[in-house]
Amino acid sequence: MKQAQIVVVAGDGIGPEVTREARRVLEAVAPQHGIALHFEEHLIGGASIDAHGTPLRDEVVERARKSQAVLLGAVGGTKWDAMPVATRPERGLLRIRKELGLFANLRPASVFPALAQASTLRPEVVTGIDMLVVRELTGGLYFGEPRGMAVVNGLREARNTMVYDESEIARIARVAFEAARGRRKHVTHVHKANVLETSQLWVQVVDEIAAAFPDVTVVHQLVDSCAMLLVRDPRRFDVIVTENLFGDILSDEAAQITGSLGMLPSASLGAGGIGLYEPVHGSAPDIAGKDVANPLAAILSAAMLFEHSFAAIAAAKQIRDAVTAVLDAGHRTADLLSPGERREAIGCRAMGDLVVAKLGA
Ligand code: IPM
Ligand code: MG
Repeated sequence: MKQAQIVVVAGDGIGPEVTREARRVLEAVAPQHGIALHFEEHLIGGASIDAHGTPLRDEVVERARKSQAVLLGAVGGTKWDAMPVATRPERGLLRIRKELGLFANLRPASVFPALAQASTLRPEVVTGIDMLVVRELTGGLYFGEPRGMAVVNGLREARNTMVYDESEIARIARVAFEAARGRRKHVTHVHKANVLETSQLWVQVVDEIAAAFPDVTVVHQLVDSCAMLLVRDPRRFDVIVTENLFGDILSDEAAQITGSLGMLPSASLGAGGIGLYEPVHGSAPDIAGKDVANPLAAILSAAMLFEHSFAAIAAAKQIRDAVTAVLDAGHRTADLLSPGERREAIGCRAMGDLVVAKLGA
């Protein structure tokens, strides 16, 4: 048996309930593939602020560094909304990404055939969507200095800095081109080079990396036009690579057109060999604790954990097949029901039960 240490940071809102189901799925699948998982649970985000006065303690970062993988739920909530950015729950998430060097955020968005009706776009537009958003995760406006608020000449002023050096662009571009090789071999680089110098550097460096991947085609797409094309003709996209903030925005859009934000998983990887896996959706405080959240994005993140942290492709496929089977059988959490649909929604736990049952543990 391969021994593996997993740090679970479930966070806030619906984080704990969806993460619980993902953990059950991991526990059901791992032994079937010769992996013995050892879990430890820690606080992050608002839960950590309430208990320890900080969104992420140094001890938790150290435990994460010693683990093979981190499973994360979601952070943030109305309770902490008035806090300054420097101390709020989201800082915990940004810090763990940065400290673990997780510069490559993979957000696959595809349509489960059973859910083509759940999209707000027409089924003929969404059927067959299969894209991978590769978002740069440790640079750009999220981390650039200088930043902050000040009063200048009697006026409140705020500042953030978008900065990238060529090495940060080259390494994420390489991830995107490598990923494209295992897919339809097409990369769309998303930028705003008609206005931003950072984007002009991205275009140059992406082209330099592209030269080493002659089998992969690349196009440079302006971010505003990309946002439009995602709703007009989403099937044209294979791999999208882009800087941090553009990727944050476009990955929510990509998720929604596939049916529900509740379905999208993600993996954050770096050079250090540790992976962090989290659903793309947020903490949804309005539905927290009511057992109505959709755990499938968290469960599909568990599939990505097997694939990327343990090269356990068969385990990942087993989970995706189980999710597909449960959806094909007609089971839906509330977010997956189309307006006017008559079938009854099931809860978070019940959805987890159905997936676990399919896994045959
Ligand atoms: C995401 C989230 C985070 C981000 C927030 C919670 C800080 O929106 O993972 O997409 O902006 O990266
Ligand atoms: Mg986001």
